[in-house]
This record gives sequence, structure tokens and C-alpha cells, in this order.
Amino acid sequence: MEMSDTDSQSSCESPDSSKCILLYAIIDIFITIGIYQFGPGLCVIINNIVFHDPRNNLPSGVKDEASLNSTFTSLGFDVRVHQNKTAAEIGSIAREYSAMQHTGAFFFIISSHGGEGDVVYGTDGKAVAVQELKKRYYATNCHSLAGIPKVFVIDACRGIIKEPALQYTTKAFQSSLLSSTTSFMDSADIMTIFASARGNAAGCNEKGSFFIQKFVRVLKKHATKMNLTDMMKKVKRKIEKLQVQTPHVESSFSKDYYIQRDRQDEEEAHEEPMEQQDAANSEMISMQASFS
Ligand SMILES: *[C@@H]1O[C@H](CO)[C@@H](O)[C@H](O)[C@H]1NC(C)=O
Ligand SMILES: *[C@@H]1O[C@H](CO)[C@@H](O)[C@H](O)[C@H]1NC(C)=O
Ligand SMILES: *[C@@H]1O[C@H](CO)[C@@H](O)[C@H](O)[C@H]1NC(C)=O
Repeated sequence: MEMSDTDSQSSCESPDSSKCILLYAIIDIFITIGIYQFGPGLCVIINNIVFHDPRNNLPSGVKDEASLNSTFTSLGFDVRVHQNKTAAEIGSIAREYSAMQHTGAFFFIISSHGGEGDVVYGTDGKAVAVQELKKRYYATNCHSLAGIPKVFVIDACRGIIKEPALQYTTKAFQSSLLSSTTSFMDSADIMTIFASARGNAAGCNEKGSFFIQKFVRVLKKHATKMNLTDMMKKVKRKIEKLQVQTPHVESSFSKDYYIQRDRQDEEEAHEEPMEQQDAANSEMISMQASFS
């Protein structure tokens, strides 16, 4: 016992000892395995403001879109905004982006009305199942996103409407919902964030949706230091304080996801020379540099 103790002690006293280098290499592998090594990629925002039935219009969506755009742009994402889309158009947009070659983390944000069974509404009052949109990005359907974090944010705001104006569409989609038969592997690396708990309304005021306001604020403040799971806990706590709704997060992430890791943190954690980092990572760093 004593022998091995002194042995390991002396081996780590000299900094260039091969045992020490091996030890650091093992620690480094552990840290790297536990974190998604991908920088920002595309952030698709579908924002429904004007509906065919004007009683459903969501004028505060304009403010949400501006704050989401500026936040994700400054985090290094390539932001693509699509406004006032029907259910069929939302489906086509999801298909379009899933056919693209992705190299970084992917965000798909929908701001519209929503309903029971995790659906969002097109401007035509027709429903789209969130699950159907997500499936487009499963590893088997979107190879280039395999192993890369994919985040779906569903801000289905119903707070402005006092009457349940969209009730009539509820029955039409209920039966076709969530008949998912895909394996867990296929749905790996996906986080889905709902602005409110299943079946509950999400609120907004003249400044925009409660959820987006808090979400954007937390991202702006903490994205370089905290992983997304922890940031979502923060958002949840902030919204619960308002006592209007409870955000709901589903995740199949197998690692920690940092939207934009601080350069300094990264050096401290890895002490990895630049040339050893993968392409996606160095892309993220150059994007960070150009936005700071
Ligand atoms: C997003 O915001 C940037 C400025 O930060 C602006 O140049 C760009 O046009 C906006 N994109 C969309 C799609 O609104
Ligand atoms: C969507 O509706 C808003 C509000 O009327 C309008 O400002 C915007 O131009 C519309 N977008 C498109 C792409 O038509
Ligand atoms: C996120 O970070 C916290 C604090 O560093 C950590 O406890 C947690 O395990 C991390 N990962 C996830 C997936 O929450």
C-alpha cells in the first residue's frame, strides 16, 4: 500500500511524467465525452402573427421574433424567420431544413397557437403535431444531424384569446396524434421545450410571450456559462413565479449541451491545443469572435 502511494505521488510531481500526461488525457476524454462538441448552426423561427380568422391574431409575436432573432444571432446562429405559415407550409419548412446539410446545433422555434396533444396551428387554423415535425430530424431522416443537439421550442401562445376560438379544430387532429413507433436511438439528442404544461395555455402581454421574454433573458445572461438543461430550470423557475403557466421540457440528451461555451472555460476544462479541436468547434469560436 505504502509503496504504491509514494509511487503515484512522485509520478505526478514531475510535470512531464508520462503517467501524468496519461492521467490528464483520460480526464480530458471524460470531460469531452460528457459534452456535445458542436457550435451553433441553424435557428429556424416560425412566427404566426396574422391568422385567417383575425380573432386569432397574435400581434405581440412581432416582439418575440425580434428578441429571438437578436439573441440567436448574437449567439452565432444562422437565423431564418418564416412568418404567417399555414399548417401545410409549416410541414414543408420542416421537411426543407431536414434535407439540408447541418454542421452545428439546430433550433426549431414555433410561435403560434397550440392545442391539446402537443399540436401547433397554422394560420389556416389547421393543426400540426409537434411529433411529426420532430421526426423529420431523427437520425434516420436527417443524417447530418445525427449526434448533434436538436432543440424544439414550442411557444404556443393562447393567452390573448379569451374565448376558446380554436376549439373547433381540436377533434379533427386528436386521433392521428403521437402514434410514434420510432426507437429511442432515433430520437436521441433532442430536447423539446413547451412554453406551458400539456393542455394548458401559455400567456402573453403587450411585450410578447411570457415564456420567450424569460427564455431570451436567461440565454443572453447565461449561455456561455450554463448548459441548456440548467438554463431551462432557471426559465422554469422564473415563469412559475408569474403563476401563469409551467414550461415543460422533454430531453433525450445524453450529454451536456452548452449553446456557446466561454473560451476561457473551455481552456480551463480541456487545455486542448486549437488544432486538436474538431471543425465544428473552431467554427463556433470564429463565429463567437465575429459577434463579440
Ligand atoms: C434578424 O436581425 C438582424 C439584425 O440583428 C437583421 O439584419 C435580420 O434581417 C433579421 N432577420 C430576419 C429574418 O428578420
Ligand atoms: C405576417 O404578418 C405581419 C403582421 O401583419 C406582417 O407584418 C408580416 O409582413 C407578415 N409576413 C409575411 C411574410 O407576410
Ligand atoms: C449541467 O450543469 C450542471 C451544473 O454544472 C450539472 O450538475 C448537470 O449535470 C449538467 N448537465 C445536465 C444534463 O443537467
